[in-house]
Order: sequence, then structure tokens, then C-alpha cells
Amino acid sequence: SSEELQEIYTFAVQLGKDAGDLLMSFARARWSDNRYSVQAVVEKDSAVDIVTKADEDVEAFIKTSIEKRFPTHKFIGEETYSKGASRDYLIGDDPTWCIDPLDGTVNYTHLFPMFCVSIGFVLNGKPTIGVINAPFLNQRFSACKGQGAWLNETQRLPLVRNPIPPMPAQAPGGCVFSCEWGKDRKDRPDGNMHRKVESFVNMAAEVGGRGGRGGMVHGIRSLGSATLDLAYIAMGSFDIWWEGGCWEWDVSAGIAIVEEAGGLITTANPPEDYQHVPIEDVQLGSRLYLAIRPAGPSATETGRQTQ
Ligand code: IPD
Repeated sequence: SSEELQEIYTFAVQLGKDAGDLLMSFARARWSDNRYSVQAVVEKDSAVDIVTKADEDVEAFIKTSIEKRFPTHKFIGEETYSKGASRDYLIGDDPTWCIDPLDGTVNYTHLFPMFCVSIGFVLNGKPTIGVINAPFLNQRFSACKGQGAWLNETQRLPLVRNPIPPMPAQAPGGCVFSCEWGKDRKDRPDGNMHRKVESFVNMAAEVGGRGGRGGMVHGIRSLGSATLDLAYIAMGSFDIWWEGGCWEWDVSAGIAIVEEAGGLITTANPPEDYQHVPIEDVQLGSRLYLAIRPAGPSATETGRQTQ
């Protein structure tokens, strides 16, 4: 019922705040006492796929809090999954929490502030509630189906209101595009990494370019946190985002927030194929995602005078 959903949303927002505080306390202890050490990092599948004690402890805190309050709900978290506890688990129709305790782990270990806690609640296979807390930046993003998307619970998203949708084929000049490098470092022709480097080079060539597509891209960003990329799509700061290797916990919260902000998210091919992307309902588990920022309300809708 809508009351139950509201109760879950209120709980998720508070949980996001508490988990963010916990993450920040780990960060402060690690940095202020000069105890920072890259040694405290453990490699998972590869040298760039890493986990810290903060990932594990924050996930344990979130998991316990959810189990206490909603014992019948299912749970999938990045670290629990990596340990093999739920390898056979697929997100189904049951109420399921899908969380990443620390998205942007590499940033966290390198003292780059782009990291966050990501809490998604998925119902009938659809991301329904999302809470993203970037504690270093003091930015919290949240959304519940039908209630809009919010920054710090008070400002409605998108903040950047551009009435023109940046649909890939006719993306207007001045787009900011974001794309993550991911963790695939296999150096083989036509591999994921190879295609990404090519895409970046091609996009960079468009920056300020004359002729051709007329300088489609204002800038290219790679934050190191797929979750925060989605938050900035919802905010309207980024126009288009593409990532080719995401997991459910990277995107569940972000999808709920982008959709409530009025943006669009779908499965996608690399940027050179944007024109051919079918705009359809996104499926969790697809790994490949393309997000497009909301087209803000038209000038008339915001009460401004049109020329
Ligand atoms: C990763 C980051 C990165 C993205 C990867 C994610 P993690 O998450 O979001 O930007 O490219 O696909 O797995 O490991 O920092 O939680």
C-alpha cells in the first residue's frame, strides 16, 4: 500500500543519512590520524576491483538495520554478493533492497570526494525507492515512485532546467557527457576497454570541433562512481551518461531517482551507436546502461516569458 511504501521511504532516507555518517567517520579516522594506507585495500576480481573495511562495515550496518525493521524483505549488497552468499540470487518480484555501501571505492581510497552510499528498494523488479548520500559533498539524493526526486530532501530535481531533451541523435551543442572506465582492463582489440578508449577519443575530438556535428560535447567526465553519475543526470548537470559494466547495486537507487526526476534510462550500446538505441523500459541486470537527463519544464510551464 502507499502507506507501507511511505514508511519504507522514510526509513530509507534515514538509513542513507546514518550510513553516510558512518562512512564519513571511517574516512575521518583513516585520514586525520594519517593512518591512510593503500595497503588497507583488498583486491577482489582484479587489481582495480577493490574493497575496504568501510565497504564491509557499512554494508553490515545497512543489512542489520533492514533485517531488524523489515525481516521479510530480501537483500542484495555488493559485498555480500562478492563473498558468494547470494551468487544464485536474481532480483525477482519480492520486495528487495539493493545496496552499495560505498560506490566509488577507488575514489575513497585516493581521497577523491566522489563516493557515496547507494540504497535502492526494488518492487516487482522495478527500482521504486532510491537514496544516494555523498557525505563528503553533503549531497543527498532521494526519490520514491510518484513523489518526485529531491536534493537534501528540500530541492526538487532537476535543478538545471533545460527544456530541450538531449536525445542522442540531435544532442544540442553544449552537452556534458559522462562515461565510466569501469574495471575491465583487458587489452584486446574490440574489447570493452578498447571501445571505451575509442569512444572517449572520438567524443573528445568533438569538443569545440568545427564542422561535423558542430561540437556536440562541452565536456567529458568520468567521476569514478556510476551511482553519482546517475545523481547528476537527475540533477540535470550531466546530459548523457553511458556505462558498460554496472551491477544492480550501482544503479538501482540511481534509476529510481533519474526516473522520478523525469529523466530516461535504458540499456545501451557505446556512444557511437546512440542513434540506434531503442528507448525502452530498463531491465535490471542488463549491465549496459544509458541515461539521459530530464528535459526541464518549458519556459511557459515555469512561468517565464517565451520570445
Ligand atoms: C564501481 C564504480 C565505477 C564503475 C563500476 C562500479 P564500486 O563501483 O561505480 O565508476 O565504473 O562499474 O562497479 O566498486 O566503486 O562500488
